[in-house]
Amino acid sequence: MVRVAILTASDRSAAGEREDVSGEIAATICREAGHAVVARQIVPDSRDAIALVLERWCDEAAADIVITTGGTGLSTRDVTPEATADVADRRVPGIPIALALEGLKKTPFSVLSRGIAVTRKRTLIVNLPGNPRAVAEGMDVLLPLMGHVADLLAGPTEHSGEADTGHALRISQR
Ligand code: MTE
Repeated sequence: MVRVAILTASDRSAAGEREDVSGEIAATICREAGHAVVARQIVPDSRDAIALVLERWCDEAAADIVITTGGTGLSTRDVTPEATADVADRRVPGIPIALALEGLKKTPFSVLSRGIAVTRKRTLIVNLPGNPRAVAEGMDVLLPLMGHVADLLAGPTEHSGEADTGHALRISQR
């Protein structure tokens, strides 16, 4: 079971003018896969507001994975990738590539998402687009990765010198 937090960036949903369908889809898919949705929040498309929530969830170790939805496109209000970069320790560039490739099976527009994936401390943050279909397709990419991501992020620190024998064993058994 992985602890997942879901942040929706949307001016209209934050103002109560539109239902948060994409956040709900991400939550439902996670729960159906046996994961725990430990936090959900809706914020406007504000770089500072998004970064603040991401920073808090990661620094409190509230979740193993944070999924954001929305604000990844080309409009001037789309700032989720910038907010995510603001709080990033390290980039995980393969994830947005996989998301774009999966999306391309359905729509050429998938490449218009500028979403990124990063780690901060022991949490992975992944930006998904706001379109509910894009969220469902993105979860197809993320679900098979989630358990291993949580294992890796929970592993020993670079200073501890502990061997993660459990993880090494699982790898060697593949
Ligand atoms: N990815 C998938 N898989 N399916 C989609 O329908 N929509 C695209 C793209 N990624 C889409 C997708 C479109 S039209 C846009 S504008 C961008 O995601 C950004 O969406 P956002 O601004 O809601 O985050």
